[in-house]
Amino acid sequence: MKSYRIAVIEGDGIGHEVVPEGLRVLEAAGRKHNINFSWSHFDWSCQTYLKTGRMMPEDGLRQLRDFDAIFLGAVGHPAVPDHISLWGLLIPIRRAFSQYVNLRPARLLEGISSPIKNFKAGDIDLFIVRENNEGEYSQIGGRLYADTDDEMAVQETVFTRRGCDRVIRYAFELARTRKKHVTSATKSNGIVYTMPFWDERFASMAREFPDVRSDQYLIDILSAHFVRHPDWFDVVVGSNLFGDILSDLSAAVVGSMGLAPSANLNPEREFPSMFEPVHGSAPDIAGKNISNPVAQIWSGAMMLEHFGEAAAAQAILKAIEAVLARNDPRTPDLGGNASTSEVGKAIAAEV
Ligand code: NAI
Ligand code: MG
Repeated sequence: MKSYRIAVIEGDGIGHEVVPEGLRVLEAAGRKHNINFSWSHFDWSCQTYLKTGRMMPEDGLRQLRDFDAIFLGAVGHPAVPDHISLWGLLIPIRRAFSQYVNLRPARLLEGISSPIKNFKAGDIDLFIVRENNEGEYSQIGGRLYADTDDEMAVQETVFTRRGCDRVIRYAFELARTRKKHVTSATKSNGIVYTMPFWDERFASMAREFPDVRSDQYLIDILSAHFVRHPDWFDVVVGSNLFGDILSDLSAAVVGSMGLAPSANLNPEREFPSMFEPVHGSAPDIAGKNISNPVAQIWSGAMMLEHFGEAAAAQAILKAIEAVLARNDPRTPDLGGNASTSEVGKAIAAEV
């Protein structure tokens, strides 16, 4: 029997509701496919911050270092500024463990109606490959002349050749296993240094993959195409910010924030990778047991896929598809009135 050690961080808000359902379904898949999980729970969150002044202990990254993976809900609470919760936990984990690929599938499933008319299940099936370590999300910058009329803020964007090449290469390699089409999200008309550099790296990589069709769009029209023609896309690669925005957009296009999973991957496997839904802690619905656990459960399937447990991962995906296709139970975001745990139990039973 294979055995995996997983660090579990529920985080805040609906993280406390969806993570237990993710674990329930992983346990079910483990029983069926002879996989043993050992879960170590960490209470790192905004509550921890409010008590201790830190989102995680000083040696938090060292504590996570030797796990096979990290299974995270979401962090963020109205009582703590969002840049503190993200930069105190999520972003340090992504960077310290070189999780430079943030892989985010968006697929229109049977039984789900897209807010975009005329698309049926299977028509929309894309992956966003978001650069996850650099770009617009940098700690370089600062403020001057606080509390005066001259107050100013500067934020630097960082694009490195190594950082661009490795994530763009990942996108091309992924496309080779799919419909062989990579689209780059750019803005090289307005952003004159980093984005033309990104375009150059993209063009250079495209030459290494002559069997893969490549194209690029400025992010503004690409956003429009995501709404009008989501079926055009296979693998879409973008910087940290563009990938972030496009993945909430594609989640909405395929029916709900509650249906969008993600994997923060260290493809070289030198460090644990981290699996979490695209959505945040959803304080507006937290505590009601009505959040959709599918994104979290699907993230668990991506973790199994990363471990090479393809059959168990497929079993979870099939179970998600079966439960969604029969329209019952489903959570309010999909027009139903079932609870988070009812949906989790139904998917676990299906597995
Ligand atoms: P959000 O994704 O938490 O929520 C956006 C909207 O989608 C809300 O109306 C929410 O109710 C709905 N929603 C999200 N997940 C859902 C689910 N599973 N089922 C049903 N409905 C769902 O984004 P928002 O409101 O911008 O951020 C809330 C907090 O989460 C903030 O503190 C933010 O910083 C944090 N955040 C954390 C992330 C992370 O930990 N990876 C990612 C995004 C936001
Ligand atoms: Mg986001």
